[in-house]
Amino acid sequence: MTQVSPGRQATSLFQELFGSGPAVLVSAPGRVNLLGEHTDYNGGPVLPVALERRTVVAAGHADRWRAVSTLDGVVVEVSPDRMEQGSWTAYLVGVVRALGRTGVNLRGANVVVASSVPMGAGLSSSAALTVALARGLTGLAGRKALPEALVEIAWQAEHDEVGVACGRMDQTVAALARPGYALLFETGSGTVTHVPYDGKIWLFETGVSHRLTGGQLNQRRQECEVALGLCREQGISAESLAEIGLEELPRLLRALPVPWSKRLRHVITETDRTRRAARALASRDLALLGRLLVEGHDSLRRDFQSSCPEADLLVESAVRHGAWGARLTGAGWGGAVLALLPPEKEARIVAELQEEFRKGFGRMPVVWATRAGGGVRSEK
Ligand code: GLA
Repeated sequence: MTQVSPGRQATSLFQELFGSGPAVLVSAPGRVNLLGEHTDYNGGPVLPVALERRTVVAAGHADRWRAVSTLDGVVVEVSPDRMEQGSWTAYLVGVVRALGRTGVNLRGANVVVASSVPMGAGLSSSAALTVALARGLTGLAGRKALPEALVEIAWQAEHDEVGVACGRMDQTVAALARPGYALLFETGSGTVTHVPYDGKIWLFETGVSHRLTGGQLNQRRQECEVALGLCREQGISAESLAEIGLEELPRLLRALPVPWSKRLRHVITETDRTRRAARALASRDLALLGRLLVEGHDSLRRDFQSSCPEADLLVESAVRHGAWGARLTGAGWGGAVLALLPPEKEARIVAELQEEFRKGFGRMPVVWATRAGGGVRSEK
């Protein structure tokens, strides 16, 4: 099957609908998070990698807002005053409003979106979209923005406007990633370090669709805030959960009731694991990295309670068949499992996992691999 790239799809639909080529053509990647789950809104580190799969935005000048996705080809009239929750155009409205606050005020635009990032798979199709839109619309207004400014616009669009209580991991990697590198982002200090990684990352989609607007992420974030308050009552003076040292954990676990003690244990141990994982990656110790991924998955399953049976089966089976490691990636409650596989065993492990998943759930998971891609860019 020949696949038309999202860039070609977006350009040709734009041409067909609006009669000329787009004025700007930009793209941003989805991401797979190696480790550091639910730490970004707790002041901790994350270790994401940009996918090779991207979302492309083609945009041209217009007096009103018209938006179309190549998924259905339906042109939608959009108004920045009205947000249609549940539609992808809510993200466009969010970006337009956030841009407005920075002084970028367009009267309208024709916008075509095409993407190869799967939706609802925990691979951040939303940040790929908002970062690409932020860059594309800034360009259309004849302005330039630093990647850090795009992160802020995209984050505000999703967090303040669409109302998802996300951290800044997804937007940061979509804007700042470099091909061939993972990104260690310390959300407490804002420090970003590029860690070389030229291997493959396998993705097994559970087929359980996860939409962040579903509310579980918001609930967990609130529980983390309550947990921090309870820790302060125990004499902890930290600004965030991730600041609390591992050595405080035994005492706090005795003092805090569930579920807050579990959320706390996840964030504190995940913070430690993620920093160790970044060091393991830097020294190319994939066996150690793999073990940390599996520990991270157990912590999500047991303590953060954000896994699902499909992901648990894939992780367990990957480890049993010789993967270095595997874990549920992204917010959770569905989405995709990432696996690091020794190249000489990968074909066999993939086949075994597909078969075990089919036996367990009566259908085949979608499986593919990526290497570390680059951040937002303009397309030729
Ligand atoms: C979603 C959010 C991120 C992060 C992850 C969980 O992807 O958008 O900010 O919180 O969940 O690690």
